[in-house]
Amino acid sequence: MNCHRRDILKSGALAGLALSVSPLALGPLRAQDVAPLSLDFDPEGYEILTTTVATPTGDKVVRYRFWKAIPYVARPVDVAYQSLNIGVPVEIDGVEVDASDAPILFANSVGGYMPSSVAEAAGIAEGGMGGPGGRGAGGRPAGGRPDGAPPQGPGREVPSGGNAMLDRGGRRVSNAKLALAAGMVVVEPGARGRTLVDGAGIYFGTAPAAIVDLKAAVRWLRHNRGRVPGNVDRIVSSGTSAGGALSALLGASGDSPLYAPWLAEIGAAEESDAIFAAGCWCPITDLEHADMAYEWNWGRNPLTSGEVVDQDVSAELREAFADYQLSLGLRQSGEGPRITAETMGDWLVERWLRPEATRYLAALSEADREPYLEANPYIAWYEGEAVFDWADFRAHVGPRKKTVPAFDAFDLSSGENSLFGAGQVAARHFTAFSAARAGVALDADIPEKLALMNPMHFLSEENPGRAGHWWLRVGAKDSDTSLSVVANLAASLEKRGNEVNTRYYWDAGHGANEDAADFIAWIGEISRI
Ligand code: DHB
Repeated sequence: MNCHRRDILKSGALAGLALSVSPLALGPLRAQDVAPLSLDFDPEGYEILTTTVATPTGDKVVRYRFWKAIPYVARPVDVAYQSLNIGVPVEIDGVEVDASDAPILFANSVGGYMPSSVAEAAGIAEGGMGGPGGRGAGGRPAGGRPDGAPPQGPGREVPSGGNAMLDRGGRRVSNAKLALAAGMVVVEPGARGRTLVDGAGIYFGTAPAAIVDLKAAVRWLRHNRGRVPGNVDRIVSSGTSAGGALSALLGASGDSPLYAPWLAEIGAAEESDAIFAAGCWCPITDLEHADMAYEWNWGRNPLTSGEVVDQDVSAELREAFADYQLSLGLRQSGEGPRITAETMGDWLVERWLRPEATRYLAALSEADREPYLEANPYIAWYEGEAVFDWADFRAHVGPRKKTVPAFDAFDLSSGENSLFGAGQVAARHFTAFSAARAGVALDADIPEKLALMNPMHFLSEENPGRAGHWWLRVGAKDSDTSLSVVANLAASLEKRGNEVNTRYYWDAGHGANEDAADFIAWIGEISRI
């Protein structure tokens, strides 16, 4: 079954868009013609699989029950994406385990805001985000841009959805497999993504489709409380990059009424979509402020070509960042000095980067530390501590990955432009700055879509549905977005009284996951609370 429902056009969700498509042109398949799918879990519908998982305490052989491609909404737009897989360990190294009340790792495989499908997966995924070319964990090819253009323009790093999570040794890491080997339940939801287009040329996976789908999958789990293995009050989400952003959004926006019409439209279960904890690796989030933040952080760093980006544009965006940062009203460690564009760099260094560099250098043998320090003279190694400043650190990171503006590209070539596509329009502007440059006004639906996609929006107020526990990780050398993004997320969550465990992995790039076993141990600890 592969039904693209057309009634999205009537949803009001696209109100304000001048769509030129007549409903009559959309073909015969309409929501009311399709019998709703059952949301009830079939406990018998599994196969038994065996996998060997490398853990820090050695290989573990895990036998697990595997349920595949379960639709999680009653009226899917495309069931290939709106389905989930479940893995439940029954035996670890020959010893029976009972995971019926275990925490649930809810591991999305979204990358690049592309579609992710688990429908053809042969088991719990090997690691990280979806397969190459924007495929999901199961390798279902995603739709491309109708004009055949790549999702990003020249000189851009393509967020393909194919970046695996890597440990420090460059090996793929799978939170999901480690969770299975620790006796936890793993749920892998698919989700619609920005390039999906139906026969009438309608983009049906653009914002906010992916977050709506993830929420629907959480609701499906709650609907099956007591039938589905695992503790639905201990759902811990994980994701990387765009998937990390969605994990943060899922955690921040639990039970928000803003999503109600979108969820109703696809026949999501009428249940809570709040989660217990969120793990977010290098989240590409706060998109409407990401261009400003990027220039604040990487504005003077050259591109890989050695070229320096337009410094007038960069400076304009950097100035806008100062206002934005001030508007957040954040203070260092809650009560300390304000976190401003002026103080953010030093604060990043003191709070996270210096301790990370110290941890890294302290773990090296003297024979390895010496050449590292020689190659990095900006770091002073003083009484067992790394000392450096923000400007030198920033220069040390080297080339910026993205041109200017990094996200809302003037030529509409970024993945984020396509994330905010709608109807038959493949890509749109989503910031006033880039829209003004293009001489157009922002479409009327953009502010709502931005809010629906941004965890920061939900952190500006109290929300009892917000996850209470957070695991935030990013490589200190990751220039896919500004290093301020995770810092602001962490500070906002701390301000709200949440438990936040944050690290900037030293010298690591995009997609790093260097302490996956610690993450699994953390789930165990917080779940016993
Ligand atoms: C991803 C990377 C990006 O640089 C981006 O802008 C969006 C998504 C990703 O890897 O998912």
